[in-house]
Amino acid sequence: MIELSEVRKAYNQGKPNEFWALRGIDLRLSLKAVTVFMGPSGSGKTTLLTMIGGLARPTSGRVRLMERDISSLPEKFLTDIRRRTFGFVFQSFNLLKGMTALENVMIPAYPLGLPHEALRKRALEMLDLLGMAAKAESKAEWLSGGEAQRVAIARALINDPDVIIADEPTANLDGQLAEQFLEIMAELKARGKTLLMTSHDPRIRKAAVVDGIVWMQDGQIASSD
Ligand SMILES: Nc1ncnc2c1ncn2[C@@H]1O[C@H](COP(=O)(O)OP(=O)(O)O)[C@@H](O)[C@H]1O
Ligand SMILES: [Mg+2]
Repeated sequence: MIELSEVRKAYNQGKPNEFWALRGIDLRLSLKAVTVFMGPSGSGKTTLLTMIGGLARPTSGRVRLMERDISSLPEKFLTDIRRRTFGFVFQSFNLLKGMTALENVMIPAYPLGLPHEALRKRALEMLDLLGMAAKAESKAEWLSGGEAQRVAIARALINDPDVIIADEPTANLDGQLAEQFLEIMAELKARGKTLLMTSHDPRIRKAAVVDGIVWMQDGQIASSD
């Protein structure tokens, strides 16, 4: 269970442009399920995902991960939990140009200090799982949108995270690739992963793999089902 209580987040706090992107979020998210966050642009979806994933801290309120309060942990511990617990897929996929698909997949594992050969083998397995083994040595900038997405997912999986956070992962993909993404989500769910994602795509909302939808509006939860 991931639990948020009274989570608020201000940007530029105390300045004339202070903005409260989250205004009191209370939420319980099931593990090993797929939850989709929907709502208008600017409603706070990305901010909420960064709070859950420990990429930033709430201004106030608490985020608990399996009974553990992660919002108040010292940076060093938070960083460690983040690396081991969460895998991130960003809208633009954020692959590093000039590096191969394989190298990109390996990056998040470097801080954990695995032997290079073991890491390389695991990265190849992840690419293979995503049907991308043949492109392991392709430079990131040579990949198509759908291929880049699958490499980004492989990268998110490299540290075997329990929770995968994906922010608008299908926004830059055409319809068929969005379907393919849903199949990948179903496979990850079957492997016991927790999936949290944002999307504007009605096909995602209606997909059978989705267990819950949280609607956001003006930094608050408008409804969830
Ligand atoms: N780093 C930032 N500094 C100031 N305002 C921000 C920052 N990031 C996001 N915001 C503002 O917070 C609000 C929520 O943003 P965001 O969480 O990205 O919403 P969504 O993902 O739903 O589009 C928006 O009004 C946005 O402009
Ligand atoms: Mg966003």
